[in-house]
Amino acid sequence: MTTIDTDPDTGLDPLDFSVTRNLAAKSNADRDAILASPGFGQSFTDHMVDICWSVRGGWHRPRVSPYGPISLDPAAAVLHYGQEIFEGIKAYRHADGSVHTFRPDQNGRRLQRSARRLALPELPVPYFLQALRELIAVDGAWVPSGEDQSLYLRPFMFAKEAFLGVRPAHKVAFYVIASPAGAYFKGGVKPVSIWLSEDYSRAGKGGTGAAKTGGNYAASLLPQSEAYENECDQVVFLDQDRNVEELGGMNVVFVYKDGTIVTPQSDSILEGITRDSLLQLARDRGHHVEGRNVSLTEWREGVASGDIVEVFACGTAAVVTPIGTLKGRDFIDEQPTGTLALELREELTNIQYGRAEDKHDWLYRLDA
Ligand code: PLP
Ligand code: COI
Repeated sequence: MTTIDTDPDTGLDPLDFSVTRNLAAKSNADRDAILASPGFGQSFTDHMVDICWSVRGGWHRPRVSPYGPISLDPAAAVLHYGQEIFEGIKAYRHADGSVHTFRPDQNGRRLQRSARRLALPELPVPYFLQALRELIAVDGAWVPSGEDQSLYLRPFMFAKEAFLGVRPAHKVAFYVIASPAGAYFKGGVKPVSIWLSEDYSRAGKGGTGAAKTGGNYAASLLPQSEAYENECDQVVFLDQDRNVEELGGMNVVFVYKDGTIVTPQSDSILEGITRDSLLQLARDRGHHVEGRNVSLTEWREGVASGDIVEVFACGTAAVVTPIGTLKGRDFIDEQPTGTLALELREELTNIQYGRAEDKHDWLYRLDA
């Protein structure tokens, strides 16, 4: 088991995880075959972590166990009312073999904000960090070392109480699973085409848009299918005032010709940690950065006039992806292509993979 000291900020002692090894763990050869070409979200490591929560017992029974199906009562609240939240964070292998993740305190805090909105218990951040370390302690060999590869960690929490009344569940489970990852989009980093969702919104004022909860993604699937039908890779959502929100799984960033960088900010958008980090790197380069409403009109007119010189999307899974086309029911706007998105991508990934100095102290070692 990983040894961790009492957390200085919270005074919490580390949890005492029980560890049950997977006797049917993949052989080195089978694992290497998967790591050679992992794709995204298709294969899973040999173990998973879980911690139970109940109103009476708080957080308890922390476990590392063999990866496998979860047994749930058919009346479990999550299956009926969708009381669920998740996170997405990557582990990166550095050249010296060590394993690091990126700003996990931010993911831990976002999970707490999501929990608050979904009336789930807030997992203390030290427990969140320990859960990631416990999984890496047993499945560290699953962190790939190829270019742009990582181990995608998926923490999630759901209501498991068997009760059909509509109220916050009294029994909850927190899990972490892990999946080796290569490029999120087939074909690597190339400009993506975006479908403008006019009929469907992702979130509403006072809704759950800022939380990372399954329901937001469920709501994005039909518009995402519409995007595919219209030969687009991704879908972009507007708010009720026709301001740009975000894509189904990524934030949007606009670069103006005077170097200003603008990104939509509102309480219906997920606050991306990749976006926050890229904007910090841009500020370090002297760019002025604004978080504010960007209307669809500002986007389209800005591109037409040449005021907007680059548009890109960003998130943990896909990192940074230039937007090449915006397609609506009755228009197709080719987007200008610049170099900033890919330069920032390179700068960010150089930090994540330990190839550049970590000036902001963003890395967190998972395997020591
Ligand atoms: N917006 C949505 C809806 C997402 O699912 C994600 C991905 O996690 C993001 C934005 C980007 O967030 P992050 O950069 O923290 O991964
Ligand atoms: C992420 O980037 O981590 C996401 O959660 C996006 C998507 C895979 C849901």
